Order: sequence, then C-alpha cells, then structure tokens
Amino acid sequence: MAGSDAVVLAEVVRSQVETHARFGGVVPELAGRRHIESIDLVVQEALALAGVGVRDLSAIAVTGGPGLIGALLVGVSYGKALAYSLNIPLIPVNHLEGHLSASWLGPTRVTQPFVALIASGGHTNLYHVKAWGESVLMGRTLDDAAGEAFDKAARMLGLDYPGGPAIDRLAREGDPRKAPFPRPYPTCDDLNFSFSGIKTALLYYLRDCEAAGRSWHVPDVAAGFQQAVVEVLVEKTLAAARLAGVRDVVVTGGVAANSQLRTRFEARGKEEGCAVHIPPFRYCTDNGAMIAVAGARLFQGGRVATLEFEPRADWAIGG
Ligand code: KG4
Ligand code: ZN
Repeated sequence: MAGSDAVVLAEVVRSQVETHARFGGVVPELAGRRHIESIDLVVQEALALAGVGVRDLSAIAVTGGPGLIGALLVGVSYGKALAYSLNIPLIPVNHLEGHLSASWLGPTRVTQPFVALIASGGHTNLYHVKAWGESVLMGRTLDDAAGEAFDKAARMLGLDYPGGPAIDRLAREGDPRKAPFPRPYPTCDDLNFSFSGIKTALLYYLRDCEAAGRSWHVPDVAAGFQQAVVEVLVEKTLAAARLAGVRDVVVTGGVAANSQLRTRFEARGKEEGCAVHIPPFRYCTDNGAMIAVAGARLFQGGRVATLEFEPRADWAIGG
C-alpha cells in the first residue's frame, strides 16, 4: 500500500485533557479508568460515522506500546475481545510507528529512505527510516522529551496543561529577543537532545526577575523558550538528514503541531533542499487514524498477532 492511498472513513478522538489538567500532567490511574469508560463508545461512534458494522471489519489494529501500561491494557484487552468474537486478526501497532505512519495521511507522498523526528510528550527520537519496518535510531533525548519540556515550562509560567498549545498561542504575541534562552548543542554532530538545560534556564530567569522585583512578560518568555526548543529540533533533524544522505524528512508527534516548528521546518528545509513532510495538525497529536493506517500496512504484510500478545510499556521501534 502506498501511504497516501489510505482513506480515513471516520475519526473520533476522545481527549482526556480536562481530567488531567488540574494535576498538571497525566495521572496514570485516571488515564486507565477514562479509557475503560470511553473505548466502546469511541469505537461505536467511529463505526457509525463510517457507516460500517463490526462484521465489515477485516482486522483490529490496536496500540501495543510503548505507553502507560494501564491504558495499553484496556485497549489491547478490548481489541483482543473484538478480534476473538469476530474471528479476525489482531494487529498490535507500535505507538511510535503509528506516529511515523501519520505521514501517510498528509497531502504529500513520502519516499524512503527518510529521516524522521518524533517529538511528543514522552519521546524525542530521530530515526533513519531505510524502509518501512527498518528504522535506525540516530538520536534521542537524554532527559525530558520536547513535549514534556513545553508542559513543564508552561506550568512554571502558570499556564494550563497541556503546555505546548498554550505556549504556542502566547508566543505569537511575544518577542523572543526579549527573553533569550540557551540552545543545547544546536550545531555539533551529536544528534541527541537535552531539554533540562532550557528548563533550568527558565527557572533561573523567573527567579532572577523575582529577586530583582522585575515582572516578566509571559508572551516574551513563551516566545523565547519556544524559539530555543524549535531551533534545536529543526537543526538537529536537518543535520541527521545530511548525515544519512537523504532529502526527505518526516516530522511528527504532538510537538509537530507547533506552528513555529512547522513554519521554521518548511523554511529551513527549502534552504537545505529537503522535502519536509508534516502531517496535518490533527494527525500530529495522538489519534486512532495513525494506528489504523499503520495496522493496515502490517495486515497486508501478514504481521498479525495471536491472542497471547501482551502490551509492552517500553516497546522500541523494530523491537
Ligand atoms: O503525541 P502526543 O499527542 O502524545 C504523546 O504520545 O505524548 O504529544 C503530546 C505532547 C504534549 O506534551 C503537548 O504539550 C505537545 O505534544 N503539544 C505541543 C503542541 N500541541 C501539543 N507542543 C508544542 N506546540 C503545540 N502546538
Ligand atoms: Zn503519541
């Protein structure tokens, strides 16, 4: 299946943001409970919207990991029950492969080999994807994930969870030059990331302002912080593409929804002669369509599982 031939018949996303917002981050126990409450409703709604019945299904794709085990167990158990009762195959999908596959849901055709950046709340990984199913990890974060850094920075600034969208919105009204932040390893050849330095710099910036009795302009700070993170993500990814000798770049995961990241990638990609593929906004953050499209490809390759499959909280791509 060529990526862009996939057609999404229906998509339903049930967000848990409201449940977790007051805690400033995801509470694993609550995440599992909300999954139990929602999963059947979401599936029924998607089937109704698509105008198909369960008996029209050929296979069930489900996220098998990595992620919170409580939430994974709910999805995998539900998927197993459905697959068993309909006597159709179960296809466990790696969540990160799902994010990569979101690139098939965009308007442009991605050709292999390519370099991919997956930047989400739990991961910041750079891959050299030589062929589908054959990815080599080129770099990763040594501490916080990029999305996690956005969430923590937002919390320090008194903004709502999730922090990425809040910082993205505010940064549009700010001037990054008024609150500059350090760029960890922006140019050197090391393709790993580290976001704890930027986070600490923000903490000190706010502390210094407080000690000096100065107030800070939240949009400027948001813009300065965002620019530092975006620049590092863009430059390291393009450095990875140069190193791998590829001209196609995929950028995906929740942080790929960031407006400045998208603009900057497009501009720098053009300068470097790279085609940068970023899925439509709604397919960057977690969604079922990316799991379905990844599952469809695995199904065509006969990559189905038995009902013995157990979710894997730390499942690496290709593992
Ligand atoms: O991929 P995702 O939906 O879930 C995970 O697999 O983690 O990513 C969620 C992360 C959160 O940390 C959120 O703050 C970040 O993506 N995010 C953004 C934006 N939208 C979501 N970060 C920066 N700018 C955004 N517009
Ligand atoms: Zn995700």
